[in-house]
Amino acid sequence: MKPVVLVTRKLPDSVEDRLRRDYNPILNPGDVLYSGDEIIERAKGADAIMPCHTEKFSAAVIARLPESVRVIANFSVGYDHVDTEAARARGLIVTNTPEVLSDATAELTMMLMLGAARRASEGERLVRTREWKDWSPSFMVGTQVTGKRLGILGFGRVGRVVAKRARGFDMEIHYNDIKRASPELEAGAIFHKTPAELMPHCDFLALHCVASPQTVKLLNAELIALLPDGAIVVNASRGVVIDDDALIAALKSGKLTAAGLDVYNNEPDIHPEYRQLTNVFLMPHIGSATKETRIAMGFRAIDNLDAVFAGKEPRDRVA
Ligand code: DGY
Repeated sequence: MKPVVLVTRKLPDSVEDRLRRDYNPILNPGDVLYSGDEIIERAKGADAIMPCHTEKFSAAVIARLPESVRVIANFSVGYDHVDTEAARARGLIVTNTPEVLSDATAELTMMLMLGAARRASEGERLVRTREWKDWSPSFMVGTQVTGKRLGILGFGRVGRVVAKRARGFDMEIHYNDIKRASPELEAGAIFHKTPAELMPHCDFLALHCVASPQTVKLLNAELIALLPDGAIVVNASRGVVIDDDALIAALKSGKLTAAGLDVYNNEPDIHPEYRQLTNVFLMPHIGSATKETRIAMGFRAIDNLDAVFAGKEPRDRVA
């Protein structure tokens, strides 16, 4: 008998085809967003669940999952939507999909930097609303990216690809992480021991840290004060790493020139003031949203399922 897998969202056809071939998938062709109760109900008789970050597996949800469920194979690199301690306590295996989305997320980060620096939201609105009337040397003047200093907070897989892409813009790379990377991974990037030590070196700051209790509101008023005046902040990691009130205050006061955001606290019901600010370039959590990456994420999640059901240790086990 093929294992039963509850798939919580619509996945690419090739991913669903592979699931049909090797498993008994319970699919979601309408791409409906399920509540915790609905997941518990639909998981009856399932051996595994393949969710996205949009489904929350709190301790309360995990406690009520049917006994048959052995594994949560996330279709995401982030797994802050899963209470991993509760999963561990219950003997549930949890996996994620690292590596395969680093390129797409780094591309999006570059887009956030360029969009924020070159005032893409304002420019696009002017053209669409026919408010664009003229050209002059003082019209829509932005900030140049080329040759600036880029600080990367969180020098993991995505952060390192961002560094590589940014070198194409002749940027000088600075970073902070829990520990210093090897010279090979650094590739000339300059290490700073603490986030506070990194800040003064950032004309641009890109956040690529993992969401954890230690990184909640990491970018707060104190850290922002240490950035050079006029710096630009971008975030394609998780919304929780930013203190929204502090960022919004800095964008209003002119301490920061601009921000580019793809992720937010309380998505999609984001802090309403972001929508009012013209100096933020806003995207709807699409860092990994390319055709190639979605397929790679699905296949990586299935590789993890295959390992579990073959009695092996899955490659990307996080709990
Ligand atoms: C991830 O994989 O964590 C992305 O944010 C999409 O969920």
